[in-house]
Amino acid sequence: MDKQVLWDVNKEFLTINEWHEYIENCLENPEDSKAICNINADDDREFDAIFFGGGAGGRFGSAYMRAMGGRQLIVDRWPFLGGSCPHNACVPHHLFSEVAAELMLARTFSDQYWFPNMDGVVTNIKEIVDLFRRGRNGPHGIMNFQSKEQLRLEFILNTPARLIDNHTVEAAGQRFKAKNIIYGPGASPYSLNIPGADLHGVYDYETLVEELDYEPGNTVIVVGGGKTAVEYGCFFQATGRRTIFVVRSKILKLIRDGETHGYLVDRMKEVGCEIWEGSEVTEIEDDGEGNVGRVLIKTPEGEEIVDTDFVFMGMGENPRSQHAVDVLGVKARNDGAIIVNDKLQTSVPNVYAIGDVIGGPMEMFKARKSGVYASRHIMGEDISYTPKDFPDFMHTHYEVSWLGMSEEEAREKYGKVTIIKMPPENDDGLDVALPASDRMMMYAFAVPRMSGFQKLIIASESRKVVGAWHVGCGAKDAFQFLNVMVKKGLTIDELGFFDELFLNPTHFIQLSRLRAGLKQLEDL
Ligand SMILES: Cc1cc2nc3c(=O)[nH]c(=O)nc-3n(C[C@H](O)[C@H](O)[C@H](O)COP(=O)(O)OP(=O)(O)OC[C@H]3O[C@@H](n4cnc5c(N)ncnc54)[C@H](O)[C@@H]3O)c2cc1C
Ligand SMILES: NC(=O)c1ccc[n+]([C@@H]2O[C@H](COP(=O)([O-])OP(=O)(O)OC[C@H]3O[C@@H](n4cnc5c(N)ncnc54)[C@H](OP(=O)(O)O)[C@@H]3O)[C@@H](O)[C@H]2O)c1
Repeated sequence: MDKQVLWDVNKEFLTINEWHEYIENCLENPEDSKAICNINADDDREFDAIFFGGGAGGRFGSAYMRAMGGRQLIVDRWPFLGGSCPHNACVPHHLFSEVAAELMLARTFSDQYWFPNMDGVVTNIKEIVDLFRRGRNGPHGIMNFQSKEQLRLEFILNTPARLIDNHTVEAAGQRFKAKNIIYGPGASPYSLNIPGADLHGVYDYETLVEELDYEPGNTVIVVGGGKTAVEYGCFFQATGRRTIFVVRSKILKLIRDGETHGYLVDRMKEVGCEIWEGSEVTEIEDDGEGNVGRVLIKTPEGEEIVDTDFVFMGMGENPRSQHAVDVLGVKARNDGAIIVNDKLQTSVPNVYAIGDVIGGPMEMFKARKSGVYASRHIMGEDISYTPKDFPDFMHTHYEVSWLGMSEEEAREKYGKVTIIKMPPENDDGLDVALPASDRMMMYAFAVPRMSGFQKLIIASESRKVVGAWHVGCGAKDAFQFLNVMVKKGLTIDELGFFDELFLNPTHFIQLSRLRAGLKQLEDL
């Protein structure tokens, strides 16, 4: 809602708690709240850029521009800076994934040691969603405090922006001009265009945290097979509900390493996930009162009808590019992503685009870095940025991290590759406590097959690490740094002589050391 009334905070000092309270008020009473204006009237410089959207890309790009001596202005429709990640995407996903991991542990050890009997226990989904909703505004308060008092960003919040031309943005009834526009309004979830898709009881990651107002029953339908579908679906499943993943092609296609993919899918099935591949939801039927009642699913075997009151759509995201296409004529691809060059420039002079609106990878590192690179270019640096060779991660009930090539891709490219993995190749089933590592120790000793999987892929001739895959817990941190070293040409010999902090989540260092002495590498 466009707001004409401004609250000028520029000369005020707001504590984190005061920000927290104000943000809460704005979100609870959007009609009564004012737009928040933090513009320094004493600075008569022209803005170097207006950031349309103050999410991951807009905030980091702004901070960098300020740091380089530039002047920026962010306009965001929300009363806080930081965007969708802390409000309805990454942060709730991490809470739900942590709950999924805790519940899998509790169910695996039900009625043993100190664990309660979980037989037939269905835990609340809404309670956890409410927990997130209650807690999310505190971090928003920190972001606003940090942005204003520490990073000295200028911004207008709590009111939508409108593009006028390639130098002008309108917000709260005023027009603001800048040398450049940096467009970063993010993306919104896709929805199935089928009968019943608008019924009460159909959710996506946004509406789940904004609108869930009842406790779902005992059967959940999840549509999709990528990160969002699997992360949320594993949470629903871990609460004790029958959870059916309806996947039009194959689940977890993004896990390109066949063995890692197989391990993940086996464990999902073992704990009870139902995965219906090659299947599509064709209709969602009303229960007679405007709620989801049952779902019709076309499977390779024929049509199935499932009674349920809860459908979750995790089918990817639609870049919010239409406004820039309509007003400025920026060029976009068929999937809606705005086309940019390696300087983040669109087809329209002085208009840059950053973050999810330029398409995949739709991840925080890319959103933040693209904002920063656009700023650096505007501030006169000769930069080039195209995201590639980045590490990646997601959650099932486990944390999954990877970088570089799959084993199949490496064999195709290099011919001879060396594989180091845990558990080792074993045709006999595996009933011993490996891999054993932090947060996986109970599984390692009681149900070893559930204690994770890890694999390092080495091009045998050059001895360089070309891929790494990890299922378990706690390896994500290491993968951020390992990826940098792999891109610099890390060899098994170098890796084998790092100093490990034993036990650690990945056993790559010590296992590499066991093989590094060999002139002709062998698998382990
Ligand atoms: C379920 C889910 C989980 C995820 N988990 C992770 C994760 O764990 N790790 C990770 O790296 N990535 C994760 N991502 C991806 C990550 O959230 C995005 O890549 C990132 O938030 C994109 O940043 P952005 O700046 O492009 O957009 P956003 O952060 O969405 O910012 C866009 C901003 O534009 C504003 N805006 C939009 N329209 C207007 C308008 N008309 N006027 C004014 N303001 C406007 C919005 O209010 C918003 O603040 C996840 C995504 C999803 C969907
Ligand atoms: N880092 C994280 O933990 C994290 C978490 C969540 C999201 N994200 C990011 O956010 C973005 C969106 O993630 P996402 O998992 O929602 O999307 P995604 O990776 O694009 O996966 C979409 C899934 O939905 C399916 N699908 C798409 N259209 C469909 C349709 N019309 N009918 C049925 N199924 C359909 C796809 O099937 P096909 O495979 O057959 O196409 C695929 O399984 C991605 O860039 C992702 O990386 C990151």
